[in-house]
Amino acid sequence: MKILVTGGAGFIGSHTVVELHQAGFQPVILDNLYNSNRSVLNGIKQITGVDFPFYEYDCNDLEKLRELFDKEQFDGVIHFAAYKAVGESVQKPLAYYENNLVSLLNLLNVMQEYKVPNFVFSSSCTVYGQPESLPVTEDTPRLPATSPYGNTKAIAEDIIRDHVHAAPSVKAIALRYFNPIGAHESGLIGELPNGVPSNLVPYITQTAAGLRDSLTVFGDDYDTADGTCVRDFIHVVDLAKAHVKALSLLEQTEASNYYDVFNVGTGEGYTVLNLINTFETVNNLKLNYNIGPRRAGDVEKIYAQADKVNTIMNWKAEKTLAESLRDAWNWQLKITQTK
Ligand code: WQD
Repeated sequence: MKILVTGGAGFIGSHTVVELHQAGFQPVILDNLYNSNRSVLNGIKQITGVDFPFYEYDCNDLEKLRELFDKEQFDGVIHFAAYKAVGESVQKPLAYYENNLVSLLNLLNVMQEYKVPNFVFSSSCTVYGQPESLPVTEDTPRLPATSPYGNTKAIAEDIIRDHVHAAPSVKAIALRYFNPIGAHESGLIGELPNGVPSNLVPYITQTAAGLRDSLTVFGDDYDTADGTCVRDFIHVVDLAKAHVKALSLLEQTEASNYYDVFNVGTGEGYTVLNLINTFETVNNLKLNYNIGPRRAGDVEKIYAQADKVNTIMNWKAEKTLAESLRDAWNWQLKITQTK
């Protein structure tokens, strides 16, 4: 099966391209390199030995998409390409709504024109807002998102659901990610945030590498074991494998208007301080950090109940928090050496 991976040079996208190849799929990478760069393609090639077709296109350019779908006959699409910085989305809501939703609408329209049946969408646990009860299941009510970024994911899910129910030629799955961390064990691909990282783990690894002075922990006065926020940190390779499982499920599904959502998390919640202590222990180093004020928009605690994806897709997170943080550090050391 030939699969278009939009955002395929990104953090989760690049790891998914590798796992698709390992599972016998034929990935084609589309990326506008807004939040990545060509070096990622070399990393993918070093791991797989394959130079996958790469198109430096933007999903907001409908004509370019049509040109691509004219040239390549796809069996499915995995759509990662989107802006994803929670804080930035609060500053630039229109840019987020336009980029994340126009690209989705373009893709769904072109897939319909070219009769491409299978669609996997990169959604997020942010659609739950601050859940009243934990762990969250797929039936946990979606609460108003705490950021325009999260809202684009919630709106996107509704667009896909309504489209699938009206246009029986497409089957779709939305995967609600928790917190993707870590890197491929080879250290050849990983997270490459442009500029100052907004996410916790790249900020930690850059601090440990001496690229940042100190990590600020955003608040230790939450109602949790040690006062810091709780998250479900999932290894990016485990997350990538869930996409392969989702495609296989769609391929096997007869129903012509199938749509479903799945939580993709480990099912374990760890605090920010748990993560920091694990990072220090597994990498045998001391991290320079301080406790600062809470960050606006942060959810206090969230972690997944992942029974549905375990049962229906036979997928379960295999890597531990320690392995994720060992791989994250290994990757940081590699890219710092090559700088
Ligand atoms: C995690 C925890 C921070 C940085 C968002 C999106 C989610 C996904 C991942 C794209 C929080 C704390 C962080 C720092 C800190 N997006 N933190 N100091 O906000 O849980 O999730 O990114 O894939 O959809 O919602 O991730 O890594 O920013 O924060 O203390 O310098 O770490 O307060 O508690 P978040 P994060």
